[in-house]
Amino acid sequence: MQSHAGRIEVICGSMFCGKTEELIRRVRRAIIARQKIKVFKPSLDDRYGIQNITSHTGQTVAAVPVLDSSEILQYANAGTTVVAIDEAQFFDVGIVGVVQQLVDSFNIRVIIAGLDLDFRGEPFGAMPQLLSIAEEVVKLHAICVVCGENASRTQRLVNGAPASYHDPIIMVGAQESYEARCRQHHEVPGSPNTRAP
Ligand code: TMP
Ligand code: MG
Repeated sequence: MQSHAGRIEVICGSMFCGKTEELIRRVRRAIIARQKIKVFKPSLDDRYGIQNITSHTGQTVAAVPVLDSSEILQYANAGTTVVAIDEAQFFDVGIVGVVQQLVDSFNIRVIIAGLDLDFRGEPFGAMPQLLSIAEEVVKLHAICVVCGENASRTQRLVNGAPASYHDPIIMVGAQESYEARCRQHHEVPGSPNTRAP
């Protein structure tokens, strides 16, 4: 079948909003379309085993774990027509150039999933640049565990209490440390952005 024209698609949103599920859906459709697809993830995310990506609902596809963005170029060979990248927020800023090269030099369709915001509610890693250069951006929403409205933020909890603004940005985890929350119920003690009540 004809290969897709090179383009960048970004799927973003808070944790538990279905990013990986949507990435896997697109990967499965590309497989049906007989595309030559390679799936990558940063190797620091070892939550569900190192050789695959898994959604919170348990769907899974095989993936190549890479230490940094430049490794992606080594694996995506001449026949590749689709590259999917999960947890893109964890990559170094070099991911932007790598993605541009895949699209512009190799005419590859690149599908990226990642958190747009960290637990503090601030832009995460190179996601702002990736969102800007993408042809298509999809922002998904989870459900706020406090009020049931759409959730756009991720609440980090340490021993059940909201994590401090000054805590390290990277902390791999799932339900035991994170919840989806709306803007109103997102709490970040110590944040310079906190408004007076
Ligand atoms: P998910 O979006 O696929 O659910 O996974 C997000 C991963 O990012 C998960 O391992 C937790 C981690 N994470 C951080 O390291 N820092 C953060 O600020 C947030 C919100 C998540
Ligand atoms: Mg995910």
